[in-house]
Amino acid sequence: MTACLSVHLPVEPVTFAGLPLASPFVMAPMTRAQSPGGVPTEAVAAYYARRAAHGLGLVITEGVLVGHPTAGHEDAVPRMTPGAAEDGWRRVVDAVHGAGGRIAAQLWHLGSLREPVDGVTAWTPSGVREPGRPATHAMTARDVDELLAAYVGAARVAARAGFDAVEVHAAHGYLLDEFLWPYTNRRTDAFGGSPARRAAFPAEVVRAVRAGFGPDRPVIVRFSQFKERAFEARIAETPAELGVVLDAFAQAGASALHASQRRFWEPAFPGAGLNLAGWAKRLTGLPAITVGSVGLTRDFLTGAGPGSVTGLVERLAAGEFDLVALGRILLGNPAWVTHAAAGRLDAIADYRKAHEDVYF
Ligand SMILES: Cc1cc2nc3c(=O)[nH]c(=O)nc-3n(C[C@H](O)[C@H](O)[C@H](O)COP(=O)(O)O)c2cc1C
Repeated sequence: MTACLSVHLPVEPVTFAGLPLASPFVMAPMTRAQSPGGVPTEAVAAYYARRAAHGLGLVITEGVLVGHPTAGHEDAVPRMTPGAAEDGWRRVVDAVHGAGGRIAAQLWHLGSLREPVDGVTAWTPSGVREPGRPATHAMTARDVDELLAAYVGAARVAARAGFDAVEVHAAHGYLLDEFLWPYTNRRTDAFGGSPARRAAFPAEVVRAVRAGFGPDRPVIVRFSQFKERAFEARIAETPAELGVVLDAFAQAGASALHASQRRFWEPAFPGAGLNLAGWAKRLTGLPAITVGSVGLTRDFLTGAGPGSVTGLVERLAAGEFDLVALGRILLGNPAWVTHAAAGRLDAIADYRKAHEDVYF
């Protein structure tokens, strides 16, 4: 098919939070559960390197569990722990670097979404039992300290393995987001109440990760309004409330923000056009990553509306956000960025849910 892109895709070098990247396109974190015993394999290294080789400036790994029994339950979800997992990650990092890419590790604790297997009850801010979910344990002050130590440890492992950046997963209804969300955070101590207090524990985690990872490489924080099981939920009703939360992350040492939303073109608040990443950048001055349904439809690359590549590239050029993350479209199309930039539309497979079941 002839090139019929509606706009030039800027696959060109950029600097993000001090990190030189080959392009402003990012692989979004996606859990694939391909690491038996929590150890990333050669197949995992090849999977990330294959994508890094095709126009992505930064790869963000799937959620990687910090070293604490409450962080997660699934055997094949990777860990960020010393020993075999650390060695496995070093091989992944080397493979991505060998392909000319950069890679950030996403650090994850599932909170209430950890299943109560192995005799471990999930840890949450307030023990809120959500409909249809098992009982959880409300974290004590000692538990808080224990988890902060786990995050420091994970960040140290990521630093030793050679990651270019780390991302703190504070989105989608997992532990840190359960602190940010009033529905799941009913605490009356310093970690609950106002937006600033709800942000206090996640900010402590950012501080811990910064301490473990060192001062030189970026610490990114991923946040969202929506939860995986509550799309209309919100951590901040107004830009002012969001500013309080994000400022706490900035003060704690965050170098960039990754604003997760389901459709990048939707305004984050009524009455103003900025999307969530746009607000994050405006409120804090930190660089921001946007995400959400990039490339998922056939006419994305040829159309002209706000949800098309034209709308995306215009907003990127205007500086509303700095990087663009792609998720599902990369599952079946490791070379989506280079194909799209060259107008090789016939080389791109339409997105299908079944792509989640293949791993290459
Ligand atoms: C299979 C799959 C696994 C995901 N796992 C994670 C994850 O581990 N951490 C995370 O922050 N987001 C995760 N996400 C969300 C993606 O990072 C991304 O925000 C979402 O897919 C929207 O982007 P897209 O429309 O380009 O796919 C996952 C999404 C998918 C489809």
